Amino acid sequence: MKVFVTRPLVGDALERLAAHHDVHVWDHPLPPPRDVLLEEAATADALIVTVSDRVDDVLLATAARLTAVSTYAVGFENIDVRAATSRRIAVGNTPDVLTDATAQFALALTLDMVRRVNESARHVRAGRWDTWQPSGYLGRVFGDVTVGIIGWGKIGRAYGALVEALGMTVLHTGSHSFDQVLERADVVSLHVPLTEGTRSLIDSRAFSLLRPGAFIVNTSRGQVVDTPALLDALDHGTLAGAALDVTDPEPLPPDHPLLGRDDVLVTPHIASATDRSRAAMADRAVDNILKALAGLPMEHCVNPDVYRARD
Ligand code: GLV
Repeated sequence: MKVFVTRPLVGDALERLAAHHDVHVWDHPLPPPRDVLLEEAATADALIVTVSDRVDDVLLATAARLTAVSTYAVGFENIDVRAATSRRIAVGNTPDVLTDATAQFALALTLDMVRRVNESARHVRAGRWDTWQPSGYLGRVFGDVTVGIIGWGKIGRAYGALVEALGMTVLHTGSHSFDQVLERADVVSLHVPLTEGTRSLIDSRAFSLLRPGAFIVNTSRGQVVDTPALLDALDHGTLAGAALDVTDPEPLPPDHPLLGRDDVLVTPHIASATDRSRAAMADRAVDNILKALAGLPMEHCVNPDVYRARD
């Protein structure tokens, strides 16, 4: 059966898939253009996609043979799951295997914020290192930092364990209200999926609740933060800095106002990018498709209703 894969994946999982199926990989550094994706999907039995590929009802409607889609990610907001379910197309994702990598990257961004690593390094590069300053770049010792975790799922908990082990105090939305977490945190770290309920969750009201000098860390999805409100909070000093692995829009155009600021660190959506986690994600995505094409339930299926609908 034909499987279209929108990017080369890490490790040898695609070779396992190719031993059983006719695998077409879009072997380019950039995602396939929309027309290529539609054309390939039209004749595919299964797709492996990434966060950059939109799998909407238009695509699903033209993909007459399609029975399974797996994303190479834990988040799946790029896929119209409801439309897929109504067409009895199973949708899979790759949870768990990126939990530690993502939590550890959120920790790296947190440490950057509390010790001003990137901000000071930027100044050095820009030739602004004139002398040693007693009061230059004052950060916080970990014991003085309260971290507020928005989203107490697997990644939020793993991140919480890391920062707690370093002596930071943890508050999270599993035990406190959203407002309480924002009001008491020095660093707010976002670990929610993007849904209609979390889109623009961090808006001007949320920023107004923060303590003076608070930072925000985002390794979830860019659209969870309202970008104009973020810029406004930085401009007005409501927010001391932001470390963003995900942005809205994504990628940011080179002239975007977020990129010109010393108080903002942007990385290119790499929180899950370790050799081990990306290879394990490929294994999970491939296993999802191997199962589905063998007529079996996917192990990591986000719309298990498709199996009930088949009964
Ligand atoms: C990456 O962003 C993912 O959802 O896995």
